[in-house]
Amino acid sequence: VQNAIRNINNIISKALINMNPTDQEAIDLALVDLDGSDRLTKMGSNALLAVSTACCRAGAAEKAVPLYKHIADLSCFDGVNLPVPFFNMISGGKRAPKSLSNLNFQEIMAIPVHAKSFREAMIAGIKLYASLGEVLMEKYPSFKLTDINEQGAYCPPIDNSEDAVQALCDAFEKAELGSVFKIAIDVAATSMVHPPEEGDDEEDVGIRYNLMWNNPDADPHILDAEGLNEHYNNLFESFPEAIVSLEDPFAANDFDGFSKFTLRYGESMQVMGDELICSNSDMILKCVESQACNSMSIKLDQVATVSDAIRAAKAAKEEGWGVCFSHRSGETEDTFIADLVAGTCAGQFKCGAPLRGERLAKFNRL
Ligand code: PGA
Ligand code: ZN
Repeated sequence: VQNAIRNINNIISKALINMNPTDQEAIDLALVDLDGSDRLTKMGSNALLAVSTACCRAGAAEKAVPLYKHIADLSCFDGVNLPVPFFNMISGGKRAPKSLSNLNFQEIMAIPVHAKSFREAMIAGIKLYASLGEVLMEKYPSFKLTDINEQGAYCPPIDNSEDAVQALCDAFEKAELGSVFKIAIDVAATSMVHPPEEGDDEEDVGIRYNLMWNNPDADPHILDAEGLNEHYNNLFESFPEAIVSLEDPFAANDFDGFSKFTLRYGESMQVMGDELICSNSDMILKCVESQACNSMSIKLDQVATVSDAIRAAKAAKEEGWGVCFSHRSGETEDTFIADLVAGTCAGQFKCGAPLRGERLAKFNRL
């Protein structure tokens, strides 16, 4: 961070003097040129992103319009709209403290798809979060409301996705919000990859997954991509019509697993590429060709400039994909992403649980 600040103060600031803050493309081009390296490591993409978003704010101020309006002008989509929030309710995988949870999947989210407004969506999300806390305390006596992760999601002592989805469905019922919510899951399946064992011919065995990867006390439950596909099918059948979006159901390098899954479910649900694409426009094209997914998440720290973020959203929309802007686990109270999601009409927004200042700052801005 100190390095990024030094680069901004000593080098980047000088390169932008006399530029027009409303010309975001020119500014972002100058930033990327100034860095000059392939992976933007010279200045650091965090330094470039900070300056790019600051200039975007300056551009809005110069035009005397709200930031979301300026972003809407830059992205040339139809006006502005507020997204459906993906509330992260239960976390597992690498994002839950080991001492609390062995859940294999990373995020079990509630999405208020039938809320009539963003305001109604927030009210429902907050009510649901409280109900889920009560459900989890009833089901798991050791669970406390403070057992949460960085995103504010609960981390109950659950080691399988069925129990997590069941708890969320119970909370829908308890809060009388079953008609408002559907479920989205981020499997983050790269975490589940089972490394080749001694003597394995890697070509022969292919990519394999261990459903119990996060539970050292349990026997491994190893599946190939086809077996994992079937595992998802069982989950969908256990909770008919509840799960409408699945993110990273296969590992980031398992194109074949992704493609077969999307062929099977792509008509009936959203298959989101996150680690698969890493917000990269070239990867969008590759995934379109292989029909690996039908939507993507965009993370600001992966794109480095505002123009890149808008380009990625445009490229995805042109393919008829769903677009979801996503916060990161580590966040500040900065709310730029809230204006970005509204100004690009992305429609979907991952921002954690309705808890903790750095998440609420963004929800409040919306
Ligand atoms: P994170 O991203 O790495 O910031 O926790 C969450 C995700 O995988 O979507
Ligand atoms: Zn993800």
